[in-house]
Formats: sequence, structure tokens, C-alpha cells
Amino acid sequence: MTDRIDTTRLQEMARAYTASAVLYAALDVGLFTQVSEGCRTEDALVETTGLRAVDVDRLVSCALSLGLLDWKDNELWNAPDVEAYLVQGTDRYAGPWMMFTRPDVPGWFQMTEKMRAPVSTKLGMYEDLTVESARKYHQATSSIGFGAARRFVRSVDLSNRKHLLDLGGGSGAYSITCVEQFEGLRATVLDLPPVVIATQEYINDAGVEDRVTTIGADFTRGEFPSPVDVVVMASNLPIYNREVIGDVVGRAFRALESGGEMHLIGEMMDNDRKGPVDAAMWGMNELICGSEGRAHTRDECKGYFSSAGFIDVEVTDFVAGTLVRCVGTKP
Ligand SMILES: C[S@@+](CC[C@H](N)C(=O)[O-])C[C@H]1O[C@@H](n2cnc3c(N)ncnc32)[C@H](O)[C@@H]1O
Repeated sequence: MTDRIDTTRLQEMARAYTASAVLYAALDVGLFTQVSEGCRTEDALVETTGLRAVDVDRLVSCALSLGLLDWKDNELWNAPDVEAYLVQGTDRYAGPWMMFTRPDVPGWFQMTEKMRAPVSTKLGMYEDLTVESARKYHQATSSIGFGAARRFVRSVDLSNRKHLLDLGGGSGAYSITCVEQFEGLRATVLDLPPVVIATQEYINDAGVEDRVTTIGADFTRGEFPSPVDVVVMASNLPIYNREVIGDVVGRAFRALESGGEMHLIGEMMDNDRKGPVDAAMWGMNELICGSEGRAHTRDECKGYFSSAGFIDVEVTDFVAGTLVRCVGTKP
């Protein structure tokens, strides 16, 4: 018996953008916040959102069918992840992060034109950053960065390390969290000149100015501050192509003292490139944002480390399905 095939999966894919649009609109009108605050009927939602009843009906149908809302005793309730992350005013609110790539939507739908007439620069979306745009960027992404950094200090013991170099450290999430966790550690965040102004604000807020410093520089060029005994490069991988990443890893190797370690954390493809989809999409995002970056596989990352001279190179899941960590030691 042969497996029957049909168009269901393909149709869903062809219209997958509808789910993103519904999520954005639900966040725009504060749907999940209203539900959490007790508006558990459509009548109540019409009242608080000021939308037409027919649009609340449409939006609630979409949200229920996407599993964002659920019924309990004829009342609307948020799904557990929606309640945890999409209710405004809570510590874990991730709305800005969910909306972060919304401005890229038109670009994604010009993908064909962009592939046929490519325009790219080395730094892509980071080419023309201002202090203001860097602040906005990190307001949206820092909660995710600090979450990842907390996971990092739970999985990596830096208690015998003295100096961490955080390449493309952004909000300083990894540096701040690491010095808070490991008493004897100091850190340097190296990021683009407009960004480190914003980084300094996060450092001051955390009260770790005496242990975390910044350098405004482009990590694709020049030698790194040395000696250091840990290098972290997190969530930058798809922005750059093989040559740039290999070169950065090589210069990080030179900056490390013997026995030091480097951690490269990012979205990596499985070696057969059959997943994860998210990693592939971050690679494609670089076409949309105009850099020469792409999705790198786990073996490619291992290769950058081995070619630089690192030993004991290992690649492990960091956040399953999302982030992978490649680590190596300088002999
Ligand atoms: C997605 S953020 C990650 C921030 C931080 N590592 C984290 O995980 O929270 C990427 C950061 O890399 C920085 N970056 C990208 N290209 C860079 C370059 N060529 N030189 C220095 N920093 C760069 C960006 O400015 C941004 O702050």
C-alpha cells in the first residue's frame, strides 16, 4: 500500500504568514493581557479593546484554533506559555522580542527579488547602527540574552577563570551574569561602538562596573584584547559567512592563554541540514537584512575550532531545537 499524499501540508505552509499576522495583531490590541486581567468573554473583550464584535469573534477564533487561547467553563483563558510570556507588565513579558522581526516582514516577501539582484555588506543590519537603534534592539532582545546567559552559568563552570572576552556581547548579558555567578571573574564586552554605549547602561544597572568593561570595535577586524582565558561569542553566528567566522575563531584562539576555552553559541544546522527550521531561517534572514551570512552546520563550527588549533572540541545542545554550543580548549 502506498502512502496517500495530499496538499494539506503545502497549503498550510503557503499560508503560514497568517499565524504571524494574527499573533502581531493580538499583541497590538493586548488580547492576552486583557484575558489575563479577567476579560474572559468576547463581550468583555469588545468593551475593553473597542474593536467591532465581528473582529473580536474572528481574532478569538484564530487564537483558539492556534492554541493561544483555550476554553475553561465557557470562559477564555490564555495557554500556559501565552500567560507566562505574552501578558504585558509581567517580568517575563516577551512581546518586544516577538515583535522584533516584524519590520522585516516586507523584506521576506521580496526574497525572490533579493536573490536575483543581491545587495550585501559585511555587517548587514549592523552596518548603520546608532546608539538609539542599538538601545531599541537590546531592549527587545536582552531578556532572551539574559535567559540564555543564566542557562550558560548553570552548564559551564568558570570558577577558576579570570578574564572573559564577550564578542558581540550586546547588552552584556553573558558578561554580567558570569561575573555575578563567578566571584574572581572579570569580563570585557566587545561590540560595535554605538552598542557599547547601551552595554554600559546595562552594566551600570547591574552595578558591576568594577568588573565588566567595554570595547567599541568590529570583531571582524583586528586583534582581540589578550590574554584572556575564556571567549564567548553568542548569537552572532548566522550574520557571517564561513571565512569571517573561521577568522574570528582564529583570532580568539590567539587571544586566549594556554588552557583557555572558547564557547560559540548560536543557531546551528544539523549536519544533514534537515533542521532545525529556525536555524535555516536565521541564515535566510541574512539575505533579507543584506549581509553575506548563512546557516552553519555543527560540523562546520567544529571545523572552525579545529582549524584554529582548539582541542577537545565538542558540540552540544544548548537550548534544544534553538541554540547549540561549540566549545574547545587551547592546548
Ligand atoms: C543577537 S545580539 C547577541 C548579544 C549577546 N551576545 C547575547 O547573546 O545576548 C548580536 C550582537 O552582536 C553584535 N555584533 C554583530 N556584528 C558585530 C561585529 N562585527 N563586531 C562587534 N559586534 C558585532 C551586535 O551589535 C549585537 O549586539
